[in-house]
Amino acid sequence: MKRIFAVFLSVMMLTSLTACSQESSSQTESVPAENESDTSEVSMADSAIAEPPEGFVLIEGGSFQMGSPDSEPWRSEDETQHTVTVSDFYISAYELTQAEYEAVTGENPSNFSGENLPVENISWLDAVSYCNARSEQEGLTLAYTIDGTNVTWDRKADGYRLPTEAEWEYACRAGTETPFNTENSPSADEVNYYGHYPYEIEGNYFSQGNLETQPGEYRETTVEVGSFEPNAFGLYDMHGNVSEWVWDYYGAYPGEEQSDPTGPQTGTMRVYRGGGWNDFAKNMRSAYRATLEPELMSFNIGLRLVRNAVAGSGTVSGTASRNAAGGDGNVLIAYFSWGGNTQGIAEEIQRQAGADLFEITMVHPYSDDYNTVLDEAQRDQNEQARPELAAHVENMEQYDTVLLGYPNWWASIPMPVASFLEEYDFSGKTIIPFCSHGGGRFGQSLTAIAKLVPDAAMGEALDIHYSGGSSMPDDVASWLAANGLSN
Ligand SMILES: Cc1cc2nc3c(=O)[nH]c(=O)nc-3n(C[C@H](O)[C@H](O)[C@H](O)COP(=O)(O)O)c2cc1C
Repeated sequence: MKRIFAVFLSVMMLTSLTACSQESSSQTESVPAENESDTSEVSMADSAIAEPPEGFVLIEGGSFQMGSPDSEPWRSEDETQHTVTVSDFYISAYELTQAEYEAVTGENPSNFSGENLPVENISWLDAVSYCNARSEQEGLTLAYTIDGTNVTWDRKADGYRLPTEAEWEYACRAGTETPFNTENSPSADEVNYYGHYPYEIEGNYFSQGNLETQPGEYRETTVEVGSFEPNAFGLYDMHGNVSEWVWDYYGAYPGEEQSDPTGPQTGTMRVYRGGGWNDFAKNMRSAYRATLEPELMSFNIGLRLVRNAVAGSGTVSGTASRNAAGGDGNVLIAYFSWGGNTQGIAEEIQRQAGADLFEITMVHPYSDDYNTVLDEAQRDQNEQARPELAAHVENMEQYDTVLLGYPNWWASIPMPVASFLEEYDFSGKTIIPFCSHGGGRFGQSLTAIAKLVPDAAMGEALDIHYSGGSSMPDDVASWLAANGLSN
C-alpha cells in the first residue's frame, strides 16, 4: 500500500513540477415567438421579459450540433450528435454564489466557504427549490411545482429556473464546435479544474511533450465566480469551478432534430454539466454529460440560473420512482482492489457491518507493475472494455444492498467494476459506493456507476484517501450510519 502511495504521489509531483517549469426521448414543445398571439391563460406577468435581469445575458436562439463528433477524444456514446434549435433565453453570466444562495434560503451548505464562491453541495431538488424561493421573493411566477421528488415545470412562468441541457450546451459552446469553448484545450490558468490532468493526459502520462496543454495547478477548491475570461457569449466558468445542474432527466439523445427539447419525461437521475474544480479536463468538455440522483449532492456541483426571454407554453413534468437507500435486507460488500487499499476498507466494513464479502477478480488480471497498469487502465477505459471476470456472485437476487468498493482510476471506475455492474440485474437494489483515491476523491466514478445501473438507487457514497489511515474505521462507521446500515 505504501508503495502505491509513494509512486502515485511522486508521479503527481512530477506532473506539477513539469507544469511549473512550463508555466426522453426528448419532449418537443413549441415555444411561441414573442409576437405570436398566445392563449388567454398567459397573463402579462408570465410573458416575455423585455430586458435582461441584472447579471444575466440574453442568449439569442439558433441551431447547433448538440453532442460530440465520433472523432472527439474521450467522448462517450451518450453524446450522439443531433441538430437542436433553442429559442432566446436569459442566463446568468456567473454561477450562483453562496451569498445569493444564503440571502434567499438563510443556509449555506457549501463545502468551501466564501460569499463569492459558487454555492455547491446542493442537490437537484435544492436547486429547483432555490429557483422558486427566489422567484417568490421577487414576486415572479414560480417555474416549478414541487411535490416531493416530482417536479413540474410551467414553461410560461417568468421566474428563475434551471437551463435545459440543450440551452446549457448551446450557451457553453457559444458557437464553437470544438471539445471546449476555448481555442485550445484549457490550461489551469484559464479554468479551475484538476489541472494536473489536462485534456488527453491519459495516453501521454509519460510523454507530456505531446500534449497541446501542459499540466498546471490543482487548486483543490472552488474559486470566486468570474475569476477567468468568459466565453464568447460573456459567460464565466462554463467549464470548471463547479458543475451545474440542468433541468433534464438523464437519457439517450433522440436521433432526430429537436426544437427546445426538455429531456425525457421520466427518469431516475438528473443531468449536470461543465465539470468542476475536481474534474479532469476530459470531463469538462462541452458535450460531456454527468448525472446523479436528484436527492444527492456533491462539493463539485452548483447551479446557474436562467429566465425565459420568450414565453414558453405548456408544462413539463417528471416522476421519479426510486428506492430509499439502505434498508433491512441482505447486504453484499463487493470490491475491486489492485494494490490492497480498497480491500482493507472492504474488510473493515465487513468487520463493522457483518455483511458477505465478494472480491471482483479478472480472468486476465492487470499487471503488478505500476507504470504498466496505468497504461492498461487508461487503454481499457478509453475503449470502454469489459474485462472477463473470474468469479461470480451465486445468488445476487438475495441481496437488496450492494456496498461497491473500487479505487479511483483515471477519475472513474476500473473497467472490471463496469463488467460486474453489467453482469447482474440491479433494478430495485441500492448501490452504495466506497472509493479509495489518491487525491481525486470520486472523480466522475459516481456518474459512471449511475449510467451503468440507472434502475438502482444510489446511497451516500464514501471517499477514502488511499488506505484512510487511523481515522478510516470511524469514517466507515459514520458512513454506515448515514446509510442506515449500522449493526
Ligand atoms: C491505474 C491507476 C489510475 C489511478 N488514477 C487515479 C486518479 O485518477 N485519481 C486518484 O485520485 N487516484 C488515482 N489512482 C490512485 C488510486 O486510486 C489509489 O492509490 C487507491 O488507493 C488504490 O486503491 P487499491 O489499493 O485498492 O487499488 C490511480 C491508481 C492507478 C493504479
